[in-house]
Amino acid sequence: MLLPLIFLILANLSALVQSQSVCLNNGNYTSNSTYNANLDTVLSSLATSVDSTGFYNASFGQKPDRANAIVLCRGDIQLDACRGCVRDAAAELLASCPNQKQAVNWQEGCTLRYSNETLVGKLAIMPMYYWWNPENATSVDQFKEDLRALLDDLRPRAVYGGSLRKVAAGHITGPDFQSIFALVQCTPDLSLEDCSSCLIGAAADIPNCCDRKRGGRVLRPSCTLRFEIYPFYNETRLQELAPRPEPPVQSPPGEHGGNRTRTVKDDGDGNTTRTAVIVTVSSVAAGVILAVFVAIFLIKRIKQKPKENHETVDDISTPESLQFAFSTIRDATNDFSDDNKLGQGGFGTVYKGKLSNGQEIAVKRLSKNSGQGDLEFKNEVLLLARLQHRNLVRLLGFSLEGEEKLLVYEFVQNASLDRFIFDPIRHSYLDWERRYKIIGGIARGVLYLHEDSRLRIIHRDLKASNVLLDGNLNPKIADFGMARLFGQDETQGSTSKIAGTYGYMAPEYAIYGQFSVKSDVFSFGVIILEIISGQKNNCFRSGENVEGLLSFAWKNWREGTTANVVDPILRSGSGSMTEMLRCIHIGLLCVQENASDRPTMASLVLMLSSLSLTLRVPSKPAFYVPSGNDSDVPLFEGYNSTQSQHSSRNDASITDLYPR
Ligand SMILES: *[C@@H]1O[C@H](CO)[C@@H](O)[C@H](O)[C@H]1NC(C)=O
Ligand SMILES: *[C@@H]1O[C@H](CO)[C@@H](O)[C@H](O)[C@H]1NC(C)=O
Ligand SMILES: *[C@@H]1O[C@H](CO)[C@@H](O)[C@H](O)[C@H]1NC(C)=O
Ligand SMILES: *[C@@H]1O[C@H](CO)[C@@H](O)[C@H](O)[C@H]1NC(C)=O
Ligand SMILES: *[C@@H]1O[C@H](CO)[C@@H](O)[C@H](O)[C@H]1NC(C)=O
Ligand SMILES: *[C@@H]1O[C@H](CO)[C@@H](O)[C@H](O)[C@H]1NC(C)=O
Ligand SMILES: *[C@@H]1O[C@H](CO)[C@@H](O)[C@H](O)[C@H]1NC(C)=O
Repeated sequence: MLLPLIFLILANLSALVQSQSVCLNNGNYTSNSTYNANLDTVLSSLATSVDSTGFYNASFGQKPDRANAIVLCRGDIQLDACRGCVRDAAAELLASCPNQKQAVNWQEGCTLRYSNETLVGKLAIMPMYYWWNPENATSVDQFKEDLRALLDDLRPRAVYGGSLRKVAAGHITGPDFQSIFALVQCTPDLSLEDCSSCLIGAAADIPNCCDRKRGGRVLRPSCTLRFEIYPFYNETRLQELAPRPEPPVQSPPGEHGGNRTRTVKDDGDGNTTRTAVIVTVSSVAAGVILAVFVAIFLIKRIKQKPKENHETVDDISTPESLQFAFSTIRDATNDFSDDNKLGQGGFGTVYKGKLSNGQEIAVKRLSKNSGQGDLEFKNEVLLLARLQHRNLVRLLGFSLEGEEKLLVYEFVQNASLDRFIFDPIRHSYLDWERRYKIIGGIARGVLYLHEDSRLRIIHRDLKASNVLLDGNLNPKIADFGMARLFGQDETQGSTSKIAGTYGYMAPEYAIYGQFSVKSDVFSFGVIILEIISGQKNNCFRSGENVEGLLSFAWKNWREGTTANVVDPILRSGSGSMTEMLRCIHIGLLCVQENASDRPTMASLVLMLSSLSLTLRVPSKPAFYVPSGNDSDVPLFEGYNSTQSQHSSRNDASITDLYPR
C-alpha cells in the first residue's frame, strides 16, 4: 500500500535530483569477458538480497575476475524503496560507466559501488560528491555553529550504532527559531575509527561545498552527510529500525542520555521553490582527481515545515543560571584566604570553598587580564559547563565582579594523579587494576572532549597533574577548554602561544606550535607510560643514565624486555603482565613521532577495552631530550618570535592545581 506513495517520491526525486555516477578510470573490461559476467551476476543479486538493514555486500567469481559490490540505502527508507533504488543505481551505473571495472553511484536513497577490488571493510573517501542548496542560510555564523554542534552530536551516535547500522539523524533549533535537520551514515562494515574519520572528514568538507548554504550533502563512497532546514528524513522509520545499542563509551547525562528530545513531525505544509546545483569532484582512490562534472538541475520541491514542536532545551540554558554572586564565593573561600589556597598556576590561583548549603567547591581566580569581554566569557563558560562526563572535572559556574573572573568547579576529593604515581608511598595504593581503570577513564574523558561533546576540544595540556582522582580513585580531567576561555580556541591549527608542559608535548606542538587531537594523544601516551612505570618522563632514571622514559620504553620494547619498564611494585603484584605489556605497546603507539601514525582516541578506547584487538607495530617515538629537573615546568614562551601582546599573561599550564 505504501508503494504508490514511495514510487511517487522516488519518481519525483529522480526526475529532479537525478543520480550521479562516477566511473573510476581504473581498468576496463571487455564485453562478454568473465568479469562482465561476474559483475552482472553480482549486480542483479543486490536488489533482491538487500534486507531491512539497507546494507549488502556481494562478490562473485575468482580473482582476477572477481566482481565485488556494496550497496547502502539511506537509513530511513523503506525496504521496497531501497530495492527500487538499488535497481535504478545498478542500471544507471552500467549505462554511464560501460566496461569500467570500478564505479560508484549515489542516488537520493542509496549508494552503490562495484569494483574488481575487495570493498567490504575498507574505508573509501574518494571520489566525493557534493550537492548544495544555493539559498543562503540566515544568520550564517550562528547557523554554522549550530550545524556543527548538531553534527558533532550525531556522529558518535552513528559511529556506535552497531555492526548492522551506522546512521543517526536529528535536528537542532538554529538561528531565527529555524530547525536544522541532519542525517549522517556510514556503511556498517567500517570500523568505529574509519566511520568516525569518514564523517569527520565529510563535516570538515562542508565549507568546500556548502559554506553559508542552508542545505547540502557531502557524499563519499563509505559515508554520507546531509543537512537541510526541513525534515527530509523519516524519523518514525529511523526509530522503528534502531533499537540503539549502548555505546561503549559512557555518556554523561547532560549530553546524550539526557532529556533532549528530537521529535520531528513531517506532516507540515507550505511551499517554497528552491534550486539546487550539483557538482561532483571525483578522483581515483589514490586521490588523483580524475574529472569534474558539473550539472545543474532545477528543482521544484515542496518544502516541509516542521511544526512548532522543537527540542526541549538543556537545563543549563542561560549564562545567568550559572552565575554565582561574587560575595557568595568570597564567603565560601573565606575571602580567598591563604588557608584555603589549593594551588597556583598560569591561569590563576585555586581555592577550596564551601557553599552555605555545604557543597564543596574549587574556585579558580583567573589572572585578571583574560583578554575576553564579559559576554564572550559567559558564553564560553556556558558551553564548557555543558560538557559533562564522569571523567571530567565539572564546571559548575562562574562569578564576575569588575575585573575579577572566577570559575567554580566541583571539588575533587583526592590529589592529582602525579601525587600518587610518583609518590614513594602512595604509589602502592594503586595496584594494576586501579591503574588500568585510570588509564581507561582518562581515555574516555579525552575521547569525549575530542569527539563526543558538542564542542571539539583539544586539551593541549594533558599531564598527570591535570588528572584528579576522586574518592573512588576515578580519574577526572581538569583544565580543559582553557584556550576557549581565553578566546583563542581553534580545533586544530598552530599557535605562537604554546600552553603545554615539557615532557608531555608532542614534537610538532613543542617545536612548531601545531596542535591537534593527535598532540593530545601524544600526551596521553606519556601518561600511560608514566602510570605503568611509576616514573616521570622528564626526570627518568635507569641506573646511572638519565634518559627519557620514552626512549627507555622504546629500547626495551625493541629488545623484547618490555617488562623492565613496569613499575617494580606492579611486577610483584597480582596484575596481568600481558595487560601491562599491551598497555605499554598502546602507549608507544601514542607517542610515535609522526602524528598521523598515532591512533585516535576512539580507537584507543577500543584497544583498551578489547584485548583481542591486534595492535599495530609502533614506529620510533619522538624522543624527548630531558633537561635536568624541569619537571612539570609550564612553558610560557611561544616559539614564534612574533608573539602577540597577550603572551605575557601566562596562559599556560597550571601545576598542582588541586592538591588534596
Ligand atoms: C583490478 O583491475 C586493475 C586494472 O585492470 C588491476 O590493475 C588490478 O590489479 C585489479 N585488481 C584485482 C584485485 O584483481
Ligand atoms: C576505458 O574506457 C574508457 C571509455 O569507455 C576510456 O575513456 C578509457 O581510456 C579506457 N581506459 C583504459 C585504461 O583503456
Ligand atoms: C557476446 O556474446 C554474444 C552471444 O554469446 C554474441 O552475440 C555477441 O556478439 C558477443 N559480443 C561481443 C562484443 O563479443
Ligand atoms: C549568498 O551570499 C553571497 C555572499 O554572501 C552572495 O554573493 C549570493 O548572491 C547570495 N546568494 C543568494 C541566493 O542569496
Ligand atoms: C559480505 O558478504 C559475504 C558473503 O556474502 C559475507 O560472508 C560477509 O559477512 C559480508 N560482510 C559484511 C560486512 O556484511
Ligand atoms: C515513515 O515511516 C513510517 C514507519 O515505517 C511509515 O509508516 C510512513 O509511511 C513513512 N513516511 C513516509 C513519508 O514515507
Ligand atoms: C527526564 O525527565 C523526566 C521527567 O521530567 C525525569 O523523570 C527523568 O529523570 C529525566 N531523565 C533524565 C536523564 O534527566
